[in-house]
Amino acid sequence: MKFCVKLLFFLAIFGYILNQLYDTWLPRNYIFDAQTLNEICNGVISKYNTSEAGNTEALLIDVRDALAKHYGDEYINEYKRDDWVFNNAGGAMGQMIILHASISEYVILFGTAIGTEGHTGVHFADDYFTILKGVQRAALPWSPEPEEYFPGMTHHLQKSYAKQYSMEKNSFALELAQGWIPAMLPFGFLDTFSSTLDVYTLGKTCWLTGKDMIKNLIQNQKF
Ligand SMILES: *[C@@H]1O[C@H](CO)[C@@H](O)[C@H](O)[C@H]1NC(C)=O
Repeated sequence: MKFCVKLLFFLAIFGYILNQLYDTWLPRNYIFDAQTLNEICNGVISKYNTSEAGNTEALLIDVRDALAKHYGDEYINEYKRDDWVFNNAGGAMGQMIILHASISEYVILFGTAIGTEGHTGVHFADDYFTILKGVQRAALPWSPEPEEYFPGMTHHLQKSYAKQYSMEKNSFALELAQGWIPAMLPFGFLDTFSSTLDVYTLGKTCWLTGKDMIKNLIQNQKF
């Protein structure tokens, strides 16, 4: 009992400090910003007819290359088919490839060939989801109408908010998360133990995320 009280006290202090740093120290480490990513995505999208079938992979590779051109190859991972993994979280299932991951930011290509629907999760981070192809719908709990996001639009999910969302088949987006990324990871991993038991995907995701976080901590972090 005494231990529980101490633990709660410690967690409250720890949470308070992380929340203070969220608006002060953390943003100084950000490499990316939502506005620039939106512009880069729109530059690429304008070369494609995104309502046309096919060509999705070419579009995704072009987005990755445009990011690498702007930020440098040391910040943006190579595009390899082998680095795509499934992600199960909040009842939704999608496919993703990590382009950049650090303690304070990640940039991924996320989407679904099949279509999916679920809970966004509640995060200690701000999330910017720029649609590249297809459509995403989302709603806060009070809203009877869906917000609808089409190619070129960025959906901002604010820290600590949750929505229900869906993506139609063959929908893909560039996702930027900024905040305390390690606090987001349990949401992305825990379905392995409660549902999928896909330890291969879990292992691969942990390896790809951890490798990139350490690389960016050593090589690219500005303290
Ligand atoms: C884009 O593709 C769709 C589906 O094939 C077609 O109906 C539409 O006319 C095309 N739009 C342009 C601008 O080419």
